[in-house]
Amino acid sequence: MEQTYQVAQASPAPPCTIVIFGASGDLARRKLVPALYNLRSCGGGMAPHDYAILGFARRPIAPDAFRAQMRDAVIKFSRLDLDDACWADFAARLDYLGGLDQPEAFDRLRVKLEDLEAAFHLPPNRIYYLSIPPEAVNETVARLDRAGLIAKPEAPHFTRVVVEKPIGHDLESARLTNRAILQHFAESQVFRIDHYLGKETVQNLLVLRFANTIFERMWGARNVDHVQITVAESEGVGSRAMYYEPAGALRDMVQNHMLQLLALLAMEPPVSLEAEAVGEAKLNLLRALRPIGPGDAATRVVRGRYSRGKVGGVEVPGYLNEKDIPSNSRTETFVALKAFVDNWRWAGVPFYLRTGKRMHARESLIHIQFKEVPRILFNRAGFLPANALTLRIQPDEGFSFGVLAKHPGPGVTISPVQMNLRYQSEFEGPVPDAYERLLLDVMAGDHTLFVTDSFVEQAWAFVQSILDQWATNPDLPLYEYPAGAMGPPAADHLIEADGRRWLIL
Ligand code: BG6
Repeated sequence: MEQTYQVAQASPAPPCTIVIFGASGDLARRKLVPALYNLRSCGGGMAPHDYAILGFARRPIAPDAFRAQMRDAVIKFSRLDLDDACWADFAARLDYLGGLDQPEAFDRLRVKLEDLEAAFHLPPNRIYYLSIPPEAVNETVARLDRAGLIAKPEAPHFTRVVVEKPIGHDLESARLTNRAILQHFAESQVFRIDHYLGKETVQNLLVLRFANTIFERMWGARNVDHVQITVAESEGVGSRAMYYEPAGALRDMVQNHMLQLLALLAMEPPVSLEAEAVGEAKLNLLRALRPIGPGDAATRVVRGRYSRGKVGGVEVPGYLNEKDIPSNSRTETFVALKAFVDNWRWAGVPFYLRTGKRMHARESLIHIQFKEVPRILFNRAGFLPANALTLRIQPDEGFSFGVLAKHPGPGVTISPVQMNLRYQSEFEGPVPDAYERLLLDVMAGDHTLFVTDSFVEQAWAFVQSILDQWATNPDLPLYEYPAGAMGPPAADHLIEADGRRWLIL
C-alpha cells in the first residue's frame, strides 16, 4: 500500500438543510445538485445522512417537475452514473419552492424549512446558497433577515450563507455587497466561493510549494524567468448570455479564478495553514500587484472576442451570433495581460495571464519558466532550453518538470525530457469535483478554501483600472479571433514583444 501522511482531517459535517437560491439556473443544474448527489452516501459516502435540499427560485414549478429536471441534470453532469435507488433516496429529500422574487415568499420559506426539518428530524442548521445575479444579493439577505431566517452566530444551530462569484459588478458594487452581507451575517457565517479553490490541483499548489524543499528555493526572481497562467475553455457562452454579456472574461475569470491562482502560486509562505493566515498571505500578494495604471491597458492588456470557427472539428457560431447577444455587444470573451508582483521575491518577473472561451481546447495550466543555464560548459552556444515546471490544473491533472538529460550514445547529445506526474495514474479513485469539496467545507464550517471580503475588493481594485480604461478609451481594440484559436494574434505579440512565447497547447 502506498505510504500517506495525513496532515489535516476533514471536519465532520453536521445535519443541515441547504437552500439553493436560483435553483432553476445553470449552476444548480450543472454543478450544485450533481455535487450534492455525488456527496450523499451512495456516491461519495461523505455527506451527512441527515440533510434536506430545497430549491428556491422564481418560477412556480411542482416539486416533482423540479426533481425530474434535476434527475436529468445529474445524468448529464454528474461524474458518477445515476443509480436509481440512490436517486430515489436523494430525491425524497429534495424539494422546491417558487416565488423567490416576491418578498412574502420568504415567510413561506420559513414555513417550508420548518416542515422539512420536522419531516426529516433535522436540527435548524441552515445553509443559504445564493446562486443569483450579483445585483439581487443585497435585497435577498435583507429579506432573509426580515423573515427571521438568520440565527446569530452564537446560536446553538448555524445559519450560513454561501455567495457565488462574481461579488458585485465592479469595485464599488462589490464593496456595497460585502457591506450589505455583513449587516445581516457575521463574517464567520459567510462563505464566498471561488470554485477554483476546491480543485484538487489548486490545493496541491500549496503542498507542492510547502511540503517539498526544492521548489520553494527556486520560487522567485533569482531563478524564474517568467510565469504563464492559461485558463482556456473550448465552450462558448452557451445559454448564459444574460449573465455573461454584462460581465465578460475580465469579470468572469480574471477578477476571481485567475487572481486566485496567481495569489496561491506567488504568495509568501503563510505562517500557518489556518484560513486567516493563508488569506492574509494571498491578500498581501494582491497588494503587491503593480496596478495597470492609466494608459497601461494599451500595452499590458489584450481583449478579444470569438468569431465563427471550428472547435474540435465542429463549426460553431461567433459570439455575436450566440443566443440573446445584442449585435452591438462590446463584451470580451478573451483577455490576456501582463502582471508584475512588485515585491522582493518577484521583482521584474512577468506573469502572463490569458483566458478565453471557444479556444482550441479546455486546458488550464500554470507554466513556470526558469532562467536559462549559464552560457558555460554544455550551454556555451546558448541553445539549451531552460527548465520549466508545468502544473496542469485540468483536465489531465498533474504536473511535469522539464529537465535536460544526456542522450545515450557517443559524444554528448542532450535531450529535453519530462518528469511527469499524472493524478489519474498515480492515485486511485476519481478526483472529486471542486463543488463537492467546497459544499462539504461549508457544512463543516471550514473557511480555509473560501475568499475574504478584502481579497474580493483587492481583486476588483486590480481589474477596475482596466475596466475604466476600456470604458473611457474607445480606441482600445476588441480583437476578433476565430473560434478554435488561442486568442487573437495581439495576445501573442504581448508576450513575443518580450522575447518569449506562450506555451503551445
Ligand atoms: C465559472 C465561469 O466561474 O467558471 C464560467 O462563470 C466558466 O464562465 C467556469 O466556464 C469555468 O470553470 P471550470 O471549472 O470548468 O474551469
